[in-house]
Amino acid sequence: MATRAAASSDLEAIMALERAAFPTDAWSAAMMREELASPHGWYVVVEEAGRLVGYAGLRAVRGARDADVQTITISESARGHGRGRALLGELLGEGVRRGVHDVFLEVRADNPVAQALYLSEGFVEVGRRPRYYQPDDVDAIVMQLDLRGWAVRRHEAASPSAPTAPEGPRAAAPAATTSATPIGKVWC
Ligand SMILES: CC(C)(COP(=O)(O)OP(=O)(O)OC[C@H]1O[C@@H](n2cnc3c(N)ncnc32)[C@H](O)[C@@H]1OP(=O)(O)O)[C@@H](O)C(=O)NCCC(=O)NCCS
Repeated sequence: MATRAAASSDLEAIMALERAAFPTDAWSAAMMREELASPHGWYVVVEEAGRLVGYAGLRAVRGARDADVQTITISESARGHGRGRALLGELLGEGVRRGVHDVFLEVRADNPVAQALYLSEGFVEVGRRPRYYQPDDVDAIVMQLDLRGWAVRRHEAASPSAPTAPEGPRAAAPAATTSATPIGKVWC
């Protein structure tokens, strides 16, 4: 599995996946181009046999303690093999490098697969935005991750000699998570 930083030349391939994955509320090419060029954005792609099969983006303003997962998509034929988790790991790793403490995202209430991915990495639900996704009239689930806790777990998982973190719903996830109210366009 090869991942690399996204380039503006990836726009067309990314938009083909974006339109296939989000048939009713895909981003426009102009919006995606802006995201790929943004100084606050960090986009990564995954390729298979030289073909772009997935992309993901983080918004992390330099020096800010909060960041947002903007989007993550794997082509249908390439799902279920760990690529989504790998791209999410890349975004969170960049967040750690930028000194981020908390990562936020919104996910459709009718998207159990993505919710399972986020929960399995330690995201917790901190709110709901009724009818956020239009035109489908679907609620958004707002999720938050304590990134420093995630980094500790990742470190422990990478160094088998270190004592393992307690199992179950990512115990390190902080309880006091209701304070943050992420504002933004229709992400993820
Ligand atoms: C969500 C998405 C990115 C996951 O990518 P993926 O490469 O299939 O995911 P992975 O193979 O890395 O699986 C990671 C976890 O996701 C969950 N998951 C993946 N496929 C699943 C399925 N068919 N059913 C239930 N859970 C599933 C599991 O928790 C899985 O962990 P596990 O393999 O340890 O069980 C992909 O389904 C996708 O692109 N969907 C369309 C776009 C979208 O909804 N993006 C997210 C918007 S918020």
